[in-house]
Amino acid sequence: MENRLERLRDEIDLLILEKNPERNHHKLRLYISHMYGVARFCTLLAMKRNLDIELATTCGMLHDIYYMTGGSTAAHALKGANQAKEILQSLNEYSQEEIDTITTAIARHSEKGTIHSPYDELLKDADVMDHCLYNTGFPVSEKETARYQSLLAEFGMDSPC
Ligand SMILES: [Fe+2]
Ligand SMILES: [Fe+2]
Repeated sequence: MENRLERLRDEIDLLILEKNPERNHHKLRLYISHMYGVARFCTLLAMKRNLDIELATTCGMLHDIYYMTGGSTAAHALKGANQAKEILQSLNEYSQEEIDTITTAIARHSEKGTIHSPYDELLKDADVMDHCLYNTGFPVSEKETARYQSLLAEFGMDSPC
């Protein structure tokens, strides 16, 4: 069943492949895994927090678009918010309010130490969940520990295992 989320995914997948012509398997695996991982955690958190599921999933799909399409990681949140705005506007299926919600969450997603609006927080949390759950054998970074602990508590778990 096709809907705008699937059309957006087609657009993003193609863009990432087009902007990574060297087809570095390791890099592409990390990009695709992180993009879909964060998107799926956004879905779960939106269900848990009674937020709009599709809007939340869209935040996850687009949040690191800047560096995944050839840009640097420096200031990728702000630059990615502008890029996401262009992509969403070009699809002609998103209201201005939806675009504002999505791009604000993307612009703020690197500010993990600050508390913002519900969609901003959802995206930061989903990003942390994917970083921490990609491989639980890897150490959790110090700057993500507090958020990770509160996420585990939100899901009724005290520790990762
Ligand atoms: Fe990011
Ligand atoms: Fe990310």
